[in-house]
Amino acid sequence: MLAGKRIVLGVTGGIAAYKAVEISRRLVDAGAHVVPVMTAGAEHFIGATTLSALASEPVKTRLWDDPDTPIPHTRLGQGADLILVAPATARVIAAYRIGLSTDLLTNVLLATRAPVMMCPAMHTEMWEHPAVVDNIAALRDRGVHIVDPESGRLAGGDTGAGRLASPEVIVAAVQRLLSPGDMAGLRVVISAGGTREPIDAVRVIANRSSGKQGYALAAEAAERGASVTLVSTVDLVAPPGVAVQRVETAAEMQSAMERLAPVSDVVVMAAAVADFRPVTAVDRKLKKHDGVPQIVLEPTPDILAGLGARKPRRQILVGFAAETDDLEANARRKLDEKHLDMIVANDVGAPQTGFQHDTNAVTIFSPDAPAFVVPLADKRTIAAAVFDRVVSMRVSAHPT
Ligand code: PMT
Repeated sequence: MLAGKRIVLGVTGGIAAYKAVEISRRLVDAGAHVVPVMTAGAEHFIGATTLSALASEPVKTRLWDDPDTPIPHTRLGQGADLILVAPATARVIAAYRIGLSTDLLTNVLLATRAPVMMCPAMHTEMWEHPAVVDNIAALRDRGVHIVDPESGRLAGGDTGAGRLASPEVIVAAVQRLLSPGDMAGLRVVISAGGTREPIDAVRVIANRSSGKQGYALAAEAAERGASVTLVSTVDLVAPPGVAVQRVETAAEMQSAMERLAPVSDVVVMAAAVADFRPVTAVDRKLKKHDGVPQIVLEPTPDILAGLGARKPRRQILVGFAAETDDLEANARRKLDEKHLDMIVANDVGAPQTGFQHDTNAVTIFSPDAPAFVVPLADKRTIAAAVFDRVVSMRVSAHPT
């Protein structure tokens, strides 16, 4: 299943390094070409000979080992389909987060455009340390695939979270990532962030949307093989392979969405679009000494309703609903009025839910299916649940 795939397996210095040998064996058995790279720390835990014997090439440990290949990191990084780091210590996670290259592995991590998967393993205190939590969150945001550690027995007889995920789980994650995804060939456009409507040269009407949910949707769809465009009001780092159209106002978002939607198979409006904007934006800064301004507002166009009215026959159109009360009634009304195939409703008044948080909790409504609840989870998990339903909706609408 991994035939023809070239995987650089980075092994760092933790007690779980011995499991890298089994991971390498399983990847080779699945058809992958495994290039093992060990850090100096890893060499304290396992012998290079053992890993070399069960990989596809001898282990590489230093930037300067091979006189015939003076810059091995670029060759390794550029030729890889995946860089897998298992186990990943707190040190390599921190180094990769800040772009610090101190050895062969950290150089390879920077000299690649291939996806990166990290499998952390460390003691519970380290895994839960705010610095590590922060580094992991930043890497996830950047599109790095993290295989979370398990809870269980750790070195020294302690028990807790931090044990390297099992080789089966890691190899299954690699196979999922490198197999053609269930959204391959689909064109997807997703809006993200909150629009900003100018009042004068310096002031805007804005809202609290961070764009995190929209970017998580984009990362998920791209990873599942779709060709994804984000229409975004924020400057988050684009997930790998995702094109970004930067917009500011509801009018700009409307024109980008109306241009892209007719040629898209799936359209998702996760953006928080202002419902009102000033009738006129003053082109200079309003001065305090001129008195309190009277700002007259007008409604913005309802972008989603417009897309629903002109939806191509085979397209799946997904809206979001940000509610604080009567979630189901309000969401179902929007589903119906805007001619949507699906609406993802979040109770933005609930803890850790909706605007700005890394997590969300949603109920997904569609015309012919019972409500589907996704309890509090990171926004990427919410995105996966949304696209699981999009994919099954497409399959039942157009069975092969
Ligand atoms: O960005 P984050 O910080 O991660 O937060 C995520 C989120 C809370 C913004 C997201 O999960 C969400 O709920 N997005 C929709 C917010 C919203 O505007 O909801 P609404 O119920 O007001 O609008 C319903 C739908 O109509 C939405 O899909 C919205 O994009 C769309 N709409 C609304 C107004 C308008 N003028 N044009 C629109 O297209």
